[in-house]
Amino acid sequence: MEEAIESSLKEWQKIEPPEEFVKKANMNDPDIYDMAEKDYERFWEGIAENIDWYSKWKSVLEWEPPHARWFIEGKLNASYNCLDRHIDSRGDKTAIIWEGEKGDIRKYTYRQLLDATSRFANSLKDMGVKKGDIVTIYLPMIPEAVIAMLACARIGAPHSVVFAGFSADALAQRIENSRSKFLITCDGYLRRGKEIPHKKRADEGVSRVDTVDKVIVVRHTGSDVPMSKQRDVWWHEVMDSASTGCDPEIMDSEDMLFLMYTSGTTGKPKGVVHTTGGYMVGTHITTNWVFDIKEDDIYWCTADVGWITGHSYIVYGPLSNGATILIYEGAPDYPERDRFWDIVERHKVTIFYTAPTAIRAFMRWGEDIPAKHDLSTLRLLGTVGEPINPRAWLWYYENIGNKRCPVVDTWWQTETGMIMITPLPGITPLKPGSATRPFPGIKAKVLDDEGNEVSQGHGGYLALTRPWPSMIRTVYKNEQRFIDTYWSKWDIDTYMSEDGARRDEDSYFWILGRVDDVIKVAGHRLGTMEIESTLVSHPEVAEAAVVGKKDEVKGEVIVAYVTLAERISESDNLMSDLVDHVADEIGPIARPAHIFFTDELPKTRSGKIMRRILKSIADGEDVGDITTLQNPEIVEELKRKVDESG
Ligand code: WTA
Repeated sequence: MEEAIESSLKEWQKIEPPEEFVKKANMNDPDIYDMAEKDYERFWEGIAENIDWYSKWKSVLEWEPPHARWFIEGKLNASYNCLDRHIDSRGDKTAIIWEGEKGDIRKYTYRQLLDATSRFANSLKDMGVKKGDIVTIYLPMIPEAVIAMLACARIGAPHSVVFAGFSADALAQRIENSRSKFLITCDGYLRRGKEIPHKKRADEGVSRVDTVDKVIVVRHTGSDVPMSKQRDVWWHEVMDSASTGCDPEIMDSEDMLFLMYTSGTTGKPKGVVHTTGGYMVGTHITTNWVFDIKEDDIYWCTADVGWITGHSYIVYGPLSNGATILIYEGAPDYPERDRFWDIVERHKVTIFYTAPTAIRAFMRWGEDIPAKHDLSTLRLLGTVGEPINPRAWLWYYENIGNKRCPVVDTWWQTETGMIMITPLPGITPLKPGSATRPFPGIKAKVLDDEGNEVSQGHGGYLALTRPWPSMIRTVYKNEQRFIDTYWSKWDIDTYMSEDGARRDEDSYFWILGRVDDVIKVAGHRLGTMEIESTLVSHPEVAEAAVVGKKDEVKGEVIVAYVTLAERISESDNLMSDLVDHVADEIGPIARPAHIFFTDELPKTRSGKIMRRILKSIADGEDVGDITTLQNPEIVEELKRKVDESG
């Protein structure tokens, strides 16, 4: 088997873009790279013409590292670019096809989406939301999530979308940091046929903060939920009484469009600030060139709107291109494991963008499942979120794309806002497992600790050495963290991605994964420190260390090593209590797959926990040098525990 794959990999060393595809591709001129390289500011200036501005910028870029300002004094509105500007030519075109887990379908044309957005924008205003107020959105995958985001953008109120799978506590933490006064949520939603009591979680979250005055509740499942008299209002009621038509607020290019909390090395998630002009320019063009969006495409990105992928490649990128997007509420294996392919077939999806973890799950379920469906409408496939192993890439290419569809492996981050390293499907020969090369105008390098470029084939840190329009502007209310995290490893103008990478003989990039304490579980970004502090907040836990263990499907799973307070015996109950505790405090995605109790954690003489060693133990790998530990004997003991657990 392995051999067959090896030879197959050789055979597929480079996959040239299909001729037919190249001919029609939105971008098929290989000179675009050189052109952008000659003068990247001029390049981005030309690209910015694809966005509608109330007034144009006075200059393209002000770069005072690490602060960049793009399209200075340009005025625009993001929701105008996603809606109003399409009305003349695409008013009756479908903007959103939504499918519920039960199979119910709702559609919005561009005109209907504009109408709903305007009404909701007016409702927000009626409620007292002003330009600059941060609105928290805590909604599952329903059209109202998109409408709420666009309505916020319309009135200049930055949104902070919190992933619906996060717990009350995680919600509270994000509301607290942003001091947000408004929350949009819903009664409940379906996950594998079961209703998740979302309003209850939202209420718990709100009760832990003192900022929220108003909660708007979407009636989605129709279940009975308690409504707080002064505070809560129904979405449909405010919509009914809202006036139609809402002039978009004229926003400065550098006004904040949204905040997106993401995990990093230290305990608390950080609020990544994105602004309007550069973000719209970057997401618009990457959607157009990387996904090759055309007028009649049905585009489906399976990410959740609660993550950056949902922001950039469900909402702002595709809608600013006037695309038809598909949104699915539920799980990929409900009611059966062919749900995704059934959706592709029924809605005639042409472009499909998902995460490697999903592909690996499909692979495990077997190729017979997609083979039962007509997937011939597909013409382009994409992946994002974690490194894709060549085997999974090939499986995707062969079994979903039938060797006809280019696969774009897109590397980027919450902080980059837009896709940074990616093939352009009409130009770039593909190599399974490689994100290939930087998007035109983007400069990426692989550096060593001293900031020197490492030679071909060797691993180093992935760095971005030139500003780009949709780059993170700061960490909300924590400028120091912004500088320390991203701009302090080398010179102040060089962005540290916290990913490892290497380049091959064609200068293609191969992303090796995170080099910090962030783990990616099924594509979701989690900080080990967040999980550790949650474990330690349990009364019976004294100390905890969390690492990512390699996993064939999820990429990584969470392994926790825990020392207990006093000598409480490690009952089975305690193990499941701790797992539940983490799920309650952060969300089910943060659930540890294994917990090992130990009397001690391996520490250096200065008392620092050696996570590197704990990771090697979890992965069953050689632990390397342990002579600097104050308690080297603990290593053997932990290895034995991990081995015994199978
Ligand atoms: C990882 C998701 C390899 C990487 C858009 C990055 C990838 C982190 C890829 C950001 C890819 C994303 N190949 N790794 N194509 N895309 N990553 O902020 O480790 O949720 O730093 O943004 O995902 O995760 P985030």
